[in-house]
Amino acid sequence: MRSIIRISLFSVIALAACRPEPKPDDNGDGGGGHVTTAYTLQIPANFPPMTIPSDNPMTVEGVKLGRFLFYEERLSGNNTQSCASCHAQTFAFSDNGNRFSTGIDGLQGDRNSMVLQNLGWESRFFWDGRAMTLEEQILQPVENPIEMHETWPNAVAKLQADPAYRELFHDAFGTSSIDKYKAAKAIAQFLRTLISGNSRFDQFQRGEIFPTLLEQGGILLTQQEGGDPANGLGGQWGADCFHCHPHGGARFTDGLLRNNGLDSLFTDLGLGGITGLPQDMGLFKTPSLRNVAVSAPYMHDGRFNTLEEVIEHYNSGGHPSPTISPFMKYTVGGLQLTQEKKDQLIAFLNMLTDPEFLNNPEFGDPGPP
Ligand code: HEC
Ligand code: HEC
Repeated sequence: MRSIIRISLFSVIALAACRPEPKPDDNGDGGGGHVTTAYTLQIPANFPPMTIPSDNPMTVEGVKLGRFLFYEERLSGNNTQSCASCHAQTFAFSDNGNRFSTGIDGLQGDRNSMVLQNLGWESRFFWDGRAMTLEEQILQPVENPIEMHETWPNAVAKLQADPAYRELFHDAFGTSSIDKYKAAKAIAQFLRTLISGNSRFDQFQRGEIFPTLLEQGGILLTQQEGGDPANGLGGQWGADCFHCHPHGGARFTDGLLRNNGLDSLFTDLGLGGITGLPQDMGLFKTPSLRNVAVSAPYMHDGRFNTLEEVIEHYNSGGHPSPTISPFMKYTVGGLQLTQEKKDQLIAFLNMLTDPEFLNNPEFGDPGPP
């Protein structure tokens, strides 16, 4: 067991590079400089600092605008769907327990909606990792024909016609002339505030609580290598999760794309569908395990309904294929976990639920602007 690091609850680190700074003022009121207020992110003491892109500093005004836009149904073709329709707070900003999300035209995709939390520490976005920045990612769902199915020029025209949005954009960017890049920047700022860092595991890492025996067993198991089935049963065989889902920090993933042995033949090529490279076929982003207990179903295609099914997948060892990760060592024989060990793993995964994040009123629907 690792030693417990005792650190105070939250160290408030001012990371927003932005200082109040005059910006061009085009609202025609003849007023002078435009001033924004730096937004101070609350980074939990057991997390690394967050890197904010220099061309999109966090401001109070930007975050406020981004929150309105995240819940804005006018970004969709028939004004019925917002980002939040498929990314609901109570489900860690994933889709209400649905395997596939339904877009405004009633069409469904073939990927499970992703949780939105601690995105400021991610370096690639979507299950196939096709977007490299949050700002770039956010431009996609609006125009996606099976999602919000709207053109950005139309969406921008709807916002531009609303005096409330003209004012919000002016406050955030010093101009009431709206465009998709400013909209994406504001939403990205809001998404970077969605920090989950007060699960029981975080509290344990900060030395605030002590885990139950069941939880301790799970914590240990995830960090132990799996045994070799050829050498017989028993021993101290672990569950071997940590190579791909390392403990601690903000995410419980190293963010790399991998094949965790779901299939021998791929219907969804994952990263390979983007790069066309044979070695990328069937690779998907290793997801965070935070709040995983509330974000069912699981995997890129939502094939597993329960955490027990997920554990059973790893326990069986999965299906061999040319691109399977070397960390899925034993597709024949599997991990051979006892029921007790499976229960311990489930207890560990439940430790990652953060009720404060799931209920934080600052992340909820702010109503009309
Ligand atoms: C119709 C449902 C739907 C809507 C509406 C929707 N999303 Fe998503 N979102 C998804 C799905 C499904 C994925 C995974 C898609 C994939 O991997 O190809 C996803 C992935 C993401 C990701 C990637 C997360 C990660 O960790 O890689 C982000 C960020 C995101 N959405 C933000 C948004 C924002 C912002 C909006 C509004 C502008 C939005 N989504 C609207 C369904 C939706
Ligand atoms: C070889 C790397 C690897 C190992 C080892 C591994 N995982 Fe994963 N895990 C992944 C990848 C990659 C995905 C996503 C796969 C996909 O959707 O195609 C995933 C998905 C998951 C999910 C679903 C999350 C979601 O939001 O859908 C859970 C839960 C999970 N893993 C838990 C575990 C546990 C518990 C262990 C140890 C028993 C473990 N993983 C071991 C790479 C790994």
